[in-house]
Amino acid sequence: MKNNKIKDFVASIKYDCRLLPYDVEGSIAHCRMLAECKIISQKDSRKIIGGLKRILESYKKGRMKFSAKYEDIHLAVEAILIKDIGETGGKLHTARSRNDQVSLDMRLYMRDIISELIRLIEDFQSVLRKAAVKNIDVIMPGFTHLQHAQPVLFSQHIMAYFFMLKRDGQRLGDCLKRVNVMPLGAAALAGTAFPIDRAYVAKLLGFEGITSNSIDTVSDRDFIIEFISAAAILMMHLSRFTEDLIIWLSPEFDFIRLGSAYCTGSSIMPQKRNPDVAELIRGKTGRVYGNLLNMLTVMKGLPVSYNRDMQEDKMPLFDTVDTLIAVLEIFPGMLGTLKVNKEKMLEACRQGFLNATDVADYLVGKGLPFRKSHGIVSEVVSYCIREGRNLQDLKLAELRRFSPEFAGDVFKAMNIRESVAGRKSKGGTAPREVRKQIKTK
Ligand code: ARG
Repeated sequence: MKNNKIKDFVASIKYDCRLLPYDVEGSIAHCRMLAECKIISQKDSRKIIGGLKRILESYKKGRMKFSAKYEDIHLAVEAILIKDIGETGGKLHTARSRNDQVSLDMRLYMRDIISELIRLIEDFQSVLRKAAVKNIDVIMPGFTHLQHAQPVLFSQHIMAYFFMLKRDGQRLGDCLKRVNVMPLGAAALAGTAFPIDRAYVAKLLGFEGITSNSIDTVSDRDFIIEFISAAAILMMHLSRFTEDLIIWLSPEFDFIRLGSAYCTGSSIMPQKRNPDVAELIRGKTGRVYGNLLNMLTVMKGLPVSYNRDMQEDKMPLFDTVDTLIAVLEIFPGMLGTLKVNKEKMLEACRQGFLNATDVADYLVGKGLPFRKSHGIVSEVVSYCIREGRNLQDLKLAELRRFSPEFAGDVFKAMNIRESVAGRKSKGGTAPREVRKQIKTK
């Protein structure tokens, strides 16, 4: 007899109880198949299904109490069923093992979750689209190395996140293809001698197909690792996004404002409005990375087939799901409160020689090879730095000291708005191109 400490240690019921609706759904399909294949009688099947439905009802009403005596959700449902309908309940587990059952429950759960996450990502994308439309003409300094690079449209920067999220949605959709395969029938590891119909169960549960090898089936947690990988990439994207917001919110930049509900004060410094929500999204990225490493480590040394270590997949998966849902629910709302300080952004564009490339391109237009024009403008910039001036403040005569190709039209080329409008290459920052990006599906 196991003592309570050991029972607690091996039990997963405290956290796998969220699988109950999926465990019941899977069991109902399994039971219908058993009757259809005449492995159990129709009468027994009806009785079992009735009992399972009552369990789901009482779970939904919050009446279910789970204790470690049940070990896991599968044993809990079975025990409650037998208590309710008697010995007949014991027929449900014919031709099945918890090893294929747990895989089924996880897949059913993840199918729901992935669909929900894809929906949340799409909602997020529409908020980004709206923010881009609203600020379509706002110009900001574009950065590389966090140093002033070239002027860009703020709307294009926002749309960059749209496309990152688009890939995240696609990655989850791709992962779903491998989640949506029916494992039941693998039983413990070798399949079963009962005349089961796996395709029928797959059809009842809406799976795309059935798994091909019973040993691989009970052994496989790739679909969970793939999901957490996709989640880790998504969190990395959102973390970078919050990093941008946090930088732009700093008084040194002062590019944006966020709604006060998303910022909190300091307990000591009265002037503070900290971007806590954004910081916590950035911080929570760490847990999802941790969950990924956790799962990879759990799996790396396991002999092929089911091993109890695999029960440890629940916590990293559920924590990833909960984190993702919380973040995806709160971030778009925060973004909805974003206000852009246009003047400050434009002002910033006048510094840092953002138009240096445009001047170099101008000389190329006059027939110089780009490498040569790059060298000339680099010298002009050094001159400006020594003089404490900007390119657009130089006199034409001063410019001509560096190259006789400079003429009066160079000042038009230096103009920030002209610079942005000129970058018309596909996917570029010109308003016409950004409008196309905004229209992307
Ligand atoms: N709770 C277990 C898990 O999550 C279910 C499978 C247990 N199988 C077994 N043979 N003990 O992995």
